[in-house]
Amino acid sequence: MIYVTGDTHGSIDIRKLLENQVTDAMTENDYLIICGDFGLIWNYKREIRKEKKWLDWLNERPWTTLFADGNHECFPRLYGYPEKEWHGGKVHVIRDKVMHLMRGEIFDIEGSSVFVMGGASSHDRGPLKGDTEIVQGKSWWPEEIPSREEMDHGLENLKQHGNQVDYIITHCLPTTCQDIVKRGEFPADAMTEYLEQINSTIKYKHWYSGHYHINIDVVPGISVVFSRIIPIGSTIMGSATMLGVPKFRRGEAVLFHWQNEHKLGTIKEVHPWGPMFKHDQPYYDIIMYDTEQKKPVRVGETDIIEKSLIA
Ligand SMILES: [Fe+2]
Repeated sequence: MIYVTGDTHGSIDIRKLLENQVTDAMTENDYLIICGDFGLIWNYKREIRKEKKWLDWLNERPWTTLFADGNHECFPRLYGYPEKEWHGGKVHVIRDKVMHLMRGEIFDIEGSSVFVMGGASSHDRGPLKGDTEIVQGKSWWPEEIPSREEMDHGLENLKQHGNQVDYIITHCLPTTCQDIVKRGEFPADAMTEYLEQINSTIKYKHWYSGHYHINIDVVPGISVVFSRIIPIGSTIMGSATMLGVPKFRRGEAVLFHWQNEHKLGTIKEVHPWGPMFKHDQPYYDIIMYDTEQKKPVRVGETDIIEKSLIA
């Protein structure tokens, strides 16, 4: 089976892969696709000890790890790894079982066609923050945005594929979807506009992106993944709850079931492993809107319908 998850950011957010019911059940027949910001090829000089430790760890897992690039990768080093043909597309081989899915390639994995186009603009480093001189080549690289050639290569590959694939894996979203998620906070750029073009011309079953550090089904057929690890083809909402990997975060507004009604509220506290004596799913303490009840109510993840954009 193919699983999809979001940014790992080197060792920072890789913990979602440790000891949970999804990864514990994954076998040598499974694939894990990370939607960018892999972050384990990050040091601008060489593979440092921490990177080696985690890359070796991934390589020793039963499954095969595949990743699109995001904006937090050391591109000169990433592009320096040996290239090979793998399942119909090109990869950089980081370890035998850890591979970078190159931009604009289409892979045939378990009978599904998967188009991959990494890259995104940084909003925390680089020219937008005015610190290009200091960070360029050390923690920010202009190659984070695909070149025109890479974009055209993707379009050409899609054309040869009849402009139809089963799944699309990217780091960022098409402009209109990014606007829904970030409400204008992240400006459109060449990459989001390119993906907008792809979204309007390519037929696909489901599109997964990372980058925004949330788990959300943005519109039907497009999901952003971060802490979740979901089977390809499924939505965030349809995925099972995972102990230790809460779907929602503190401060988020959510729509949820409460005493046979739909309620809106803000998450005040998250219990990823469940509260004491109740370790069946993540739980949330939620302050309800429009009610006399000032104390938070405790709600299991299965009772949360969706993240609300009405905060
Ligand atoms: Fe990220």
